Amino acid sequence: FNVPTPINEPVKGYAPNSPERIELLKMLKELKQQERDIPMHIGGQEVRTGKTLPINPPHDHQHTLGFFHEGDASHVQQAIDAALAAREQWAALPWEQRAAIFLKASDLLAGPYRARINAATMLGQSKNAFQAEIDAACELIDFFRFNVHYMQELYRQQPESAPGMWNRLEHRSLEGFVFALTPFNFTSIAGNLPTSAAMMGNVVVWKPAYTQIYSAQVLMELFKEAGVPDGVINLIYVDGPVAGNVIFNHRDFAGIHFTGSTGVFQTIWKTIGENIPKYRSFPRIVGETGGKDFIVAHPSAHAKAVATAITRGAFEYQGQKCSAASRVYLPSNLADEILGYVKEDLASFKMGDVEDFSNFINAVISEVSFDKLAKYIDGAKADADAEIVAGGGYDKSKGYFVEPTVIVTKDPQYVTMRTELFGPVVTVYVYDADQFEQTLELVDSTSPYALTGAIFSQDRYAIDLASKKLVNAAGNFYINDKPTGAVVGQQPFGGARASGTNDKAGSILNLLRWVSPRAIKETF
Ligand code: SER
Repeated sequence: FNVPTPINEPVKGYAPNSPERIELLKMLKELKQQERDIPMHIGGQEVRTGKTLPINPPHDHQHTLGFFHEGDASHVQQAIDAALAAREQWAALPWEQRAAIFLKASDLLAGPYRARINAATMLGQSKNAFQAEIDAACELIDFFRFNVHYMQELYRQQPESAPGMWNRLEHRSLEGFVFALTPFNFTSIAGNLPTSAAMMGNVVVWKPAYTQIYSAQVLMELFKEAGVPDGVINLIYVDGPVAGNVIFNHRDFAGIHFTGSTGVFQTIWKTIGENIPKYRSFPRIVGETGGKDFIVAHPSAHAKAVATAITRGAFEYQGQKCSAASRVYLPSNLADEILGYVKEDLASFKMGDVEDFSNFINAVISEVSFDKLAKYIDGAKADADAEIVAGGGYDKSKGYFVEPTVIVTKDPQYVTMRTELFGPVVTVYVYDADQFEQTLELVDSTSPYALTGAIFSQDRYAIDLASKKLVNAAGNFYINDKPTGAVVGQQPFGGARASGTNDKAGSILNLLRWVSPRAIKETF
């Protein structure tokens, strides 16, 4: 039998007075009126430590959405024990039964959980309704459906056999547990990292970023209702180094599925390397990290299309996507026209809380992030090499609001052309229109990252040249489109160099990392 053919979940529009908008507004109101008590989930039990920390919406930091119970090293150990206790039965469950759980999860998310996961993402992570819908609902539904489909493909891959024998591949799960370390910026990534490993028969200890716990607890309820057995996915809220110290010293640590900063990933890799003799197997290390994603326009580019790619690619979800455009190279013949369109577009962007659906821009995730962005904006204001041509304002009195900001620099190595800021700031360098090829070299060499990038041109030779010169500069390369918004099943996502291990999320390549096949030869 076959699993259902996956199709991408249609995106709901949330037009005024549409049933989905009415339901979502009701859910936002309901969630805001409660103060939730948020436990960890270990071995199917809710765990409350009494050491609670508040969760506040980044756009309204005086409001409290709830309190989560923070754990310590003993809870990490408990989560590992619970995972290992569940392992044998889970790994032995036929893959069709595991597939059914995640297909059910996708249907629950598409139906009864949709408003709640979107509302939790909007309030907890300050994401507007449309950005929440394409992330927490559609992308995660797609991850479940497509991963189940790829899982079937993977399990069906079998070797040849000569007469007199039967060769088989048994796609075993990893011997031990997988650690999923998930970021704040996509609820879909937080949902995908533990489940893609679990789907392949692995047991998981899952630690979300503290700034994503509010939606993580909804995901955990979803997993339970879909039928993920107790102990298969254990959700803990523990400080990173405390958790790491237990996890990375454990004999049964079998792999990490990570999305976060390059620096943290490097530290984790180093720690794993130092501890390697302690482990039973070489752990799988799968990580997606930072980006300094580019847009390059050729002199033949369509000016308005470039401008739209900049405003959407750099400022959707306040630029807090690892795929966000943050450095732009414009040719001198088009720069004024493109920047004119950018300013026009930005003038129509409203900034504010998430309940007013006309606000395109909401708050950045935290005070730390706000202060960092303010520092770079102030730097650009003071610097002779940089000019702020749009935005530049910020205010943290009610929420962590930073205006969409466009910096134009004469220096292609200017600090904001090189540094990942993870916020609504984009830097533009204007190049001499006859220096396109040299500019491509600059694009390739300026940043250590290689996640996403886009080329805009109407000239096939220029597109081909950019494609070749930038072959290693981006794991997701866009021609005449913005560098964000990869769709599961259509543009498998991930980058190389300092951007990660490029084990494309939502693809068979990723699922392959969570199996350890046994080749069996039987002779007759
Ligand atoms: N997959 C997202 C995008 O393409 C980023 O994580 O924007």
